[in-house]
Amino acid sequence: MNSSQLALSNLSVSFGGVKALTDVSLTVPKNSVVGLIGPNGAGKTTVFNCISGLVKSDSGSFEFDGVKRAFPKPHELVGLGITRTLQGVGLFNDLSVLQNVMVGADKKYRPNFVKEILGLSGKTEANLVRRAEEALAWVGGASLIGREPSELSYPDSKRVALARALVTNPTLLMLDEPAAGLGQDDIDSLAVLIRQLKKRCAILIVEHHVDFVREISDSVSVLNFGKLIASGTYDEVKQNPAVIEAYLGHSDKSDENSKLGA
Ligand SMILES: Nc1ncnc2c1ncn2[C@@H]1O[C@H](COP(=O)(O)OP(=O)(O)OP(=O)(O)O)[C@@H](O)[C@H]1O
Ligand SMILES: [Mg+2]
Repeated sequence: MNSSQLALSNLSVSFGGVKALTDVSLTVPKNSVVGLIGPNGAGKTTVFNCISGLVKSDSGSFEFDGVKRAFPKPHELVGLGITRTLQGVGLFNDLSVLQNVMVGADKKYRPNFVKEILGLSGKTEANLVRRAEEALAWVGGASLIGREPSELSYPDSKRVALARALVTNPTLLMLDEPAAGLGQDDIDSLAVLIRQLKKRCAILIVEHHVDFVREISDSVSVLNFGKLIASGTYDEVKQNPAVIEAYLGHSDKSDENSKLGA
């Protein structure tokens, strides 16, 4: 049996009077891929924001690698072994591709980090450059080193964003819509990468492409209006009446990829 890398219990979050999450519990076993799905506005990104300390929870508990602790602050994430990608791309246009990946190792997530570390010993910087190059190569982006983010195709930008999340060797990787906007070939390559990554870390993945979610996820949790309405294997949850209703009741992401598979 896998032990859990992350366990969230009874997480609730509100923004003003709006309840974004209500009593959400979620476990990500080690070396597994957990898909977090649900219609637009269901609260998926808010779960990531709580785990990464960007949003404060009203209540709920956080357990990481078997140890209960407070929800992390953003500057504690790298030390704990948690990294994420942002919904969209989120690269810094004033930094090179390599520097964008190096920023992933920044404990304080400051875009001027690379400039700051230039004041550190050459050895430290060389080590970071080597790790960033390795991460880029690993995602198939070796040829992108030295390019500027503005020159990259959208799939290459997503590759760089993934490399930035990997540069610290996370134990929990959170991917927010990694397949969004990609064509089938790039989605297939991403699925291969994620299967390899699972040997190194636990992965929590938010995604609207349900075929992709079905292919890569060991289990799936479904949110709707901030509540967990189902969890289990993809094939189990897709038969759940509450899940079917949640998807049929929403027409905002009605392209083929975001419908539940047959
Ligand atoms: N910082 C914020 N301030 C106020 N409301 C917010 C904030 N972040 C999210 N919300 C609200 O919380 C709810 C959940 O949003 P969230 O971004 O988590 O949804 P999501 O499931 O990621 O949606 P999508 O699939 O469109 O990315 C929405 O009603 C959203 O408008
Ligand atoms: Mg979102």
